[in-house]
Amino acid sequence: MEMSHRKTEIAAPDPSEMRVRPAHASDLPAVVALDAENTGEARPAYWKDRFEWYAGRQPDRFFLVAEQRGDTLGFIVGEVRAWEFGSPPSGWVFAIGVSPRARLHGLGSLLFDEICARFRSAGVQHVRTMLAKDAHLLLSFFRSLGMMGGPFIQLEKRLEP
Ligand SMILES: CC(C)(COP(=O)(O)OP(=O)(O)OC[C@H]1O[C@@H](n2cnc3c(N)ncnc32)[C@H](O)[C@@H]1OP(=O)(O)O)[C@@H](O)C(=O)NCCC(=O)NCCS
Repeated sequence: MEMSHRKTEIAAPDPSEMRVRPAHASDLPAVVALDAENTGEARPAYWKDRFEWYAGRQPDRFFLVAEQRGDTLGFIVGEVRAWEFGSPPSGWVFAIGVSPRARLHGLGSLLFDEICARFRSAGVQHVRTMLAKDAHLLLSFFRSLGMMGGPFIQLEKRLEP
């Protein structure tokens, strides 16, 4: 995967210059690079699949990117879906990433607000996400945005081989 499109110098995030918009296919390399920067792992096949599912302009699926003067500095992915067991549809956030060079300037909050606005327009009343218990940064981030423990619990069991 070609990642050399990223500029080595990213201007400090300036909210007045930041633009959040739906992702296009041409954003795929930038998102792969940003995710690799955040997770230490390049996952082009995974993100190609996610683009096909979430960036295809279906009305209930959202893949947003934040850019400043052509630099992709962040992204957020989510959809409106009904969980099983009788819960009404709600907005689910599945992934968020902000470049380490652009953090703590409100960009993650901006992406979250933008996807929440789209969830609201889609007619749902709640936004949800699921995190690993030790994902302290993401927990702090979502907690700061008003997210709290919800009414569902996740259960699991290891399957026999
Ligand atoms: C979590 C993340 C999206 C936050 O992005 P950001 O642009 O820095 O967030 P914001 O500037 O909007 O911060 C909002 C609030 O989140 C909290 N927060 C953000 N970074 C924090 C940190 N390092 N430690 C503690 N709290 C933090 C703060 O309460 C902050 O508010 P404040 O600035 O008034 O203190 C970003 O750090 C990130 O992408 N991390 C990696 C995520 C990841 O691993 N993704 C892969 C799996 S999906």
